[in-house]
Amino acid sequence: VTVQNDIPFEQLPGFRPGNLENASRDLYKFMNRRRSIRSFSGEPISDEVLKNCILAAGTAPSGANQQPWTFVLVKNPAVRRRIREEAERVEYDFYTGKSHGEWKSVLEPLGTDYKKPFLENAPCLIVIFTQKYTVAGDGAIVKHYYAGQSVGIATGFLISALHRLGISTLTYTPGKMGFLNGILERPKNEQPYLILVVGYAAPGTRIPDIERKSFKDIAVIV
Ligand SMILES: Cc1cc2nc3c(=O)[nH]c(=O)nc-3n(C[C@H](O)[C@H](O)[C@H](O)COP(=O)(O)O)c2cc1C
Repeated sequence: VTVQNDIPFEQLPGFRPGNLENASRDLYKFMNRRRSIRSFSGEPISDEVLKNCILAAGTAPSGANQQPWTFVLVKNPAVRRRIREEAERVEYDFYTGKSHGEWKSVLEPLGTDYKKPFLENAPCLIVIFTQKYTVAGDGAIVKHYYAGQSVGIATGFLISALHRLGISTLTYTPGKMGFLNGILERPKNEQPYLILVVGYAAPGTRIPDIERKSFKDIAVIV
């Protein structure tokens, strides 16, 4: 039986705040300041910053440590134009189609429509793919366990990492995302998860005045 090498947990650099109550209150306040924005300035963000945020996302826990994610950093304006064109085609069908009726009441307060200029105006997109499986050297298919949950957690890490640096995001999910495999040349074991639009708010940006549920509405203590 091979046992994986182990290392003492205490060796990892970590820290414990002196006053957890204060630290946790500050943490909540900080997280509560995160908001999605839908109009971006073109102010650039360096590759090093983006790479470190993606590495931070890659520290997320994952089923059987399979790390079933691919982050595609899209900066190229021509590629972003193609993504916008395809996304707007999908969105146009959605906003003019039948199913829009069901969604209308929840989307209306956000004031969104089929036009997605942020796909070109933001300095970059990070398109996240779920690797449903990988193909081993001998051609055998290795299934990934709990890939959906794992990629969701990693995406949360990424959004939090960017927020920690004062960088805003929009979590964007066109109704159909298969076109992303074609444009970004991703293999068929990878399924588009979402598009993260990354950057800074354009001057004069306004955001919906929304409320967050209270503790008792989202949690129970047993
Ligand atoms: C899985 C997911 C999909 C989303 N898809 C879209 C989208 O397609 N278009 C959009 O404008 N916002 C989208 N959003 C952003 C939400 O509308 C936004 O997070 C929500 O209104 C709360 O606002 P806040 O992020 O500012 O707290 C999405 C968010 C999540 C988590």
